[in-house]
Amino acid sequence: MANMLQSALASAERTLELLDADEQDTETVREHLPERATGHVVFENVSFSYDPSEPLIADLSLEVQPGHTVAIVGPTGAGKTTLVNLIMRFYELNAGRILLDGVDITGLSRAELRGHVGMVLQDAWLFNGSLRDNIRYGRLDATDDEVIEAAKATMVDRFVRQLPEGYDTIIEENASSLSAGERQLLTIARAFIANPSLLILDEATSSVDTRTELLVQQAMQALRADRTSFVIAHRLSTIRDADTILMMQNGRIVEQGTHEQLMAAGGAYFSLYQAQFAGAETSVDDGSAV
Ligand SMILES: Nc1ncnc2c1ncn2[C@@H]1O[C@H](COP(=O)(O)OP(=O)(O)OP(=O)(O)O)[C@@H](O)[C@H]1O
Ligand SMILES: [Mg+2]
Repeated sequence: MANMLQSALASAERTLELLDADEQDTETVREHLPERATGHVVFENVSFSYDPSEPLIADLSLEVQPGHTVAIVGPTGAGKTTLVNLIMRFYELNAGRILLDGVDITGLSRAELRGHVGMVLQDAWLFNGSLRDNIRYGRLDATDDEVIEAAKATMVDRFVRQLPEGYDTIIEENASSLSAGERQLLTIARAFIANPSLLILDEATSSVDTRTELLVQQAMQALRADRTSFVIAHRLSTIRDADTILMMQNGRIVEQGTHEQLMAAGGAYFSLYQAQFAGAETSVDDGSAV
């Protein structure tokens, strides 16, 4: 009884927290994006913090050209995920503007904005149903042929063909019959079929082995071709070919440039890179190597 009471209390706390949460700001839809946005992203003097007493992102400006791949690196807690959360408008800015194709994203409906953005996150979320339906979830009106095309482009087809029931294989919600890498590949296929103008990959290959990572990387390349992408990665080997690398620390972009430029500059990125490839004892994730 004591145990049940305890867990009921914990649940009640979470429920009340949700009920007490601030209402999302109401939408004033003033503008629309073109059907096929080019993915030109501008941050104009953006400031944001979760907690007013702890400033996080202050006066950040950034311009990303259509089709470019931007890698965001930096220690844990630097604000990398926060930055991409702001693009998705999960939170409102304290100051400044974010423009997508020249349109202030606060003038768009959240549904329209998010319809243009595809996200692949660290933990792959799958639902109870067939593999086919799980891929189709990215765009519900996709045909069977389009599903298979997306699967082929993202290396999913290879392992699905080995399953006795192929695309009709039913997976459980926790997808225990699939490996972590296979699950991530499935969510990449899902983003592929949605064909978004803007792609956000937050630690999308963090939990797979190196061989699978190579496959996932090839899948990602197919996905990143001619669309703007934000890639967050702790493993620097995965983002060397990005058009721009942003090195973040404490909510600020401390360095910006290509891999070669940042290596030549010999700053924070250089140290982080050295630490990773020297196989240094210190975890590069905690910032102690920076
Ligand atoms: N929902 C939230 N409410 C309050 N504070 C938050 C919230 N999410 C993140 N933070 C805080 O904001 C800071 C930046 O977090 P963020 O998730 O952007 O880091 P990150 O760079 O993505 O780190 P990691 O590499 O570990 O993913 C951290 O100090 C974190 O504690
Ligand atoms: Mg993060």
